[in-house]
Amino acid sequence: MTADIDWGNLSFTYTTTDYNVRCYYRNGKWGELETSSSETINMHMAATCLHYGQEAFEGLKAFRGKDGKIRIFRMADNAQRMLDSADGVLMARVPVDLFMKACQKAVELNSRFVPPYGSGASLYIRPMLIGSGPKVGVSPADEYLFMVFVTPVGPYFKEGFKPTNLMITRQYDRAAPNGTGPFKVGGNYAASLASGKIAHEKGYSAVLYLDSREKKFLDECGPANFFGIKNNTYITPQSKSILPSITNKSLIQLAEDLGLKTERRPVPLEELETFEEVGACGTAAVISPVAKVDDLDTGKSYVFSKDGQPGPVSVKLYNKLRAIQNGEEPDKYGWIT
Ligand code: COI
Repeated sequence: MTADIDWGNLSFTYTTTDYNVRCYYRNGKWGELETSSSETINMHMAATCLHYGQEAFEGLKAFRGKDGKIRIFRMADNAQRMLDSADGVLMARVPVDLFMKACQKAVELNSRFVPPYGSGASLYIRPMLIGSGPKVGVSPADEYLFMVFVTPVGPYFKEGFKPTNLMITRQYDRAAPNGTGPFKVGGNYAASLASGKIAHEKGYSAVLYLDSREKKFLDECGPANFFGIKNNTYITPQSKSILPSITNKSLIQLAEDLGLKTERRPVPLEELETFEEVGACGTAAVISPVAKVDDLDTGKSYVFSKDGQPGPVSVKLYNKLRAIQNGEEPDKYGWIT
């Protein structure tokens, strides 16, 4: 039985589910995985996550297939990325096995919230690792809480798989070149709130950031990665401040399967006008095709879709990715649990 939810009209918002799972790191070791039905955490007011931002999170999804089975996509890759984030801000590392066991348990306990096949929705899994021990000096906590909650979601951008608009501004940076950009830590998202608010107020879905040092190269794309297609080639920026998106990595693989060349390299802003198709990609965004990018500082507009439809390569990549996630295509890379 699935929960009584209007699955087809879900947006990317929080819906209460039945349980979450938690595990504490104390005295140098991880404890037992606990199940909770509380949506709140009891925490020391001097916990390092609260004032020094010592925390990281992940985002992955579970899908219900036509065969009724529930599939979690690339869970081991998210576990590895959380290890990198933990190293990045000096937190206790969550072993891959513990990460996967916790995600699986959170999905199993809330299986009635995994949206039905064909609804377009999915169950978003949000693992979090937070410094829970008290400190006042700027130093890593001695105690950590790892927890996983889940919530059913629809598309991140309201357009779903319809082209959306982005803006470029040189007035804001998301992450510094040698900072925390490649780690999935909350501070990067806090740093994007002010520019994101401006984008939304002006009617854009997100900011297409330029590199923070020179403002010459394309960087992160709101809460997602950027890709462009031209001359039968999938191109995505390489930068020390971009989060290594697991969806982007998957699309690179699928693009190669489709016979495209792929390139991960610095992408100068001047190259933007040469792309035939452009998109944002990530777990939450999946593929969000881009209709237009407006550069607010130069007044230049880059148009990629005039008819409100995604380009042909984006459609092929999207369909292939979703077919693997739903179990309609064989999982030849071992991406599914
Ligand atoms: C994701 O794509 O899963 C993200 O974490 C992006 C956003 C929702 C913060």
